[in-house]
Amino acid sequence: MTVRLLRTIAEVRAAHDEARHAGRTIGLVPTMGYLHAGHASLMDAARAECGSVTATIFVNPLQFAAHEDLSTYPRDLEGDLALAEAHGVDIVFAPDVEEMYPSGPVLTTVSVREITATLDGASRPGHFDGVATVVAKLFAIAGACRAYFGEKDYQQLLVVSRMAHDLSFPVTVVGCPTIREADGLAMSSRNVYLGPEDRAAAPALKHCLDAGAAAIAAGERSPDAIEATMSSVLAGEPRATMDYVAAVDARTLERPASMRGEVRLLVAAQVGPARLIDNLGVHAD
Ligand code: PAJ
Repeated sequence: MTVRLLRTIAEVRAAHDEARHAGRTIGLVPTMGYLHAGHASLMDAARAECGSVTATIFVNPLQFAAHEDLSTYPRDLEGDLALAEAHGVDIVFAPDVEEMYPSGPVLTTVSVREITATLDGASRPGHFDGVATVVAKLFAIAGACRAYFGEKDYQQLLVVSRMAHDLSFPVTVVGCPTIREADGLAMSSRNVYLGPEDRAAAPALKHCLDAGAAAIAAGERSPDAIEATMSSVLAGEPRATMDYVAAVDARTLERPASMRGEVRLLVAAQVGPARLIDNLGVHAD
């Protein structure tokens, strides 16, 4: 079967109503396009669990600050359609900005408190409001479904899950593991910004996370000490400029006095022209 490219909200609603009427569960995979193996893994998970899979491709202006890369964000609809089709996607919804925001700037936004106060929420003010708002719109458009998000954007996964829960969307949010290049770099559409030297330096983020995990495995429980280990490893790569490193409670993103249970290690750094993020889950007994 060939993938269907839909451009309007009305077409998606009609297609999803029809699929649900036929007894099929909808699997939704929201993306900003320039698809790679990380996105494909979400499509594979949706394909395995749902009768009908819809991927969305929309570079959402609301989640970019004025100085960020909205205008240069990579795009390749042809390539994206081929990848989506190869991974069993039934529908690609690729609306233009007019279709999603027909009245210009939105007056209604969705804001998730507390878990957006730190990390990327602190570094990118307004970013998670933009994400929560567009994902709420996508959930309202898609209707009842299972929606697949990557752990690669761990804070985003928590924000979207909490938003769906708090606003009673008929959506089950499913988190999927991070897909990496052979050298450990987490796949990202933004990796295309990296020249050869920056690309060679970029696995430093994963090395920094691994060092944090090794410290925990060796018995370290102090977030200060774990973060000091992480930042010293990152500092060893001169091409990487640290934004943050963090060892936090995986559920609340709070920083306890002593790490226990499910811990999330997170890092954000500028490597040449690209702002990269990564994270790792670790269990601390
Ligand atoms: P985008 O960066 O295109 O990512 C789309 C989805 O793919 C997200 O759920 C993200 O976590 C997941 N993803 C990206 N890289 C991954 C990797 N290496 N392994 C596994 N999953 C990966 O995230 C967004 O778009 C936007 O903020 C969006 C949610 C679509 C709202 O605009």
